[in-house]
Amino acid sequence: MRRKRKKLERGTLITIERNNTIAAEQFRSIRSNINFASVDRRLRSIVVTSSSAGDGKTMTATNLAIVFNQEGKKVLLVDADLRRPKVHHAFRLENHVGLSNYLIGQKALEDIIMRTYRPDLDLITSGIIPPNPAELLGSRQMSIFISQVMNLYDVVIFDTPPVLVVTDSTLIANQCDGTLLVVRAKKNEVKDVKKAKEQLSFAGANLIGAVFNGKKQLKKNLYYY
Ligand SMILES: Nc1ncnc2c1ncn2[C@@H]1O[C@H](COP(=O)(O)OP(=O)(O)O)[C@@H](O)[C@H]1O
Ligand SMILES: [Mg+2]
Repeated sequence: MRRKRKKLERGTLITIERNNTIAAEQFRSIRSNINFASVDRRLRSIVVTSSSAGDGKTMTATNLAIVFNQEGKKVLLVDADLRRPKVHHAFRLENHVGLSNYLIGQKALEDIIMRTYRPDLDLITSGIIPPNPAELLGSRQMSIFISQVMNLYDVVIFDTPPVLVVTDSTLIANQCDGTLLVVRAKKNEVKDVKKAKEQLSFAGANLIGAVFNGKKQLKKNLYYY
């Protein structure tokens, strides 16, 4: 258990630990694409999702938050995967209180915002695992949360659960400026990716692109289009 967590921590922060690799460069190019795509409509709230578990959503969301922060933006990374929260591991932070505690009215916003070791890169962990994540994420309190954090940060990135497993990500995606669909090479079936795309579009999400995550060689296989 301990070892596994250590491995994840070491592997996830590509844009910090291996900042001069192709993988890190790919994250910067995703950032440029998002910045350029924002000419007509600023893309400040971004949902990262995928069709199934283990595709690289958390890894992508975390590194995107870092590269936006590296260009000087005030960034918030939100772990909106209330079912399998993982974002805090990468930053070696605890997940005692977080989004779910806020959504049920137990904590105020300032109580759940955590500072990371990087200035202007804050984190909100998932909080206690609730019995009704979809209900919480689809609530009016969640809409209030989104508008509150958009007033405090330049960019807010949401890590979410898989689209084909639960409705959580679509509930958030339709309230955010843009959604990125992570596609894991050789793992995701085309029909599932299509289905996820359809569900997001149907829910009113603004799909801004796909991130191809290669199986072993992330460094060569992460694209944006
Ligand atoms: N391109 C990759 N190469 C190797 N390992 C990866 C790659 N992308 C993700 N991983 C690893 O795969 C696991 C699942 O990734 P994660 O981001 O947690 O997926 P998700 O959030 O979609 O469930 C993690 O251990 C992560 O470090
Ligand atoms: Mg995840």
